[in-house]
Amino acid sequence: MFLYICNLNNDTMLELKDKTIAEIVSEDISKASVFKKYNLDFCCGGGKTVEDACLKANLNLNEVIQDLLNTTSNINAPNLNFKEWSADFLVDYIVNVHHTYVKDNLEVINEFATKVAKVHGQHAPETIEIDDLFMKLSNELISHLEKEETILFPAIKAKLTNPSLAYDNDVIKILEDEHDAAGTIVKRIQEISNNFTPPEWACNTYKALYFKLDEFINDLYQHIHLENNILFKKIK
Ligand SMILES: [Fe+2]
Ligand SMILES: [Fe+2]
Repeated sequence: MFLYICNLNNDTMLELKDKTIAEIVSEDISKASVFKKYNLDFCCGGGKTVEDACLKANLNLNEVIQDLLNTTSNINAPNLNFKEWSADFLVDYIVNVHHTYVKDNLEVINEFATKVAKVHGQHAPETIEIDDLFMKLSNELISHLEKEETILFPAIKAKLTNPSLAYDNDVIKILEDEHDAAGTIVKRIQEISNNFTPPEWACNTYKALYFKLDEFINDLYQHIHLENNILFKKIK
């Protein structure tokens, strides 16, 4: 029995190492937390296999795979089968869940970031950079969401009722490039905030800022993953 379990695990490990990061997250969104933990990009750079991504990032492949095997869906990350959803249902989900979350949270995070940079910028200069980066990310996201909501998403719905309509591929390319640009900003924030770890002496606003940044970036990773790896693939 023990041998059987080992063989089963080995088979699953072999299977996982050759899958792309995007495929794994598309099948089980809860595994996104593992890729985030190891700083492996699952939304913009998700086309690499787990083995290639670990090699490039100098990570222990077995350790990452073991973490993936130990992580399964729970109530906070329900295993919704996004790949099976129709494009229009997925569009409504993205707008109602992720776009609403972004719009509801930009202002409060910018307020926290500016306050922390003003009070602590002198002895923690990374807070000034975080304030600038998050403001840049906010401005880019506002125009990005508007493009999706007014150009691409209505086109997706229109094509479902009239299949002879064609998408403007330039728009999809622009949106993908903007996802990459957001990913670059987010990685820099993650890096200089020491993966959202406030210093021991941090005040409550400092702690709240890092907590909200972590939450916002988790949501953004899932949001971009749904668009790049599921929605855009459905319509290409
Ligand atoms: Fe979006
Ligand atoms: Fe987007």
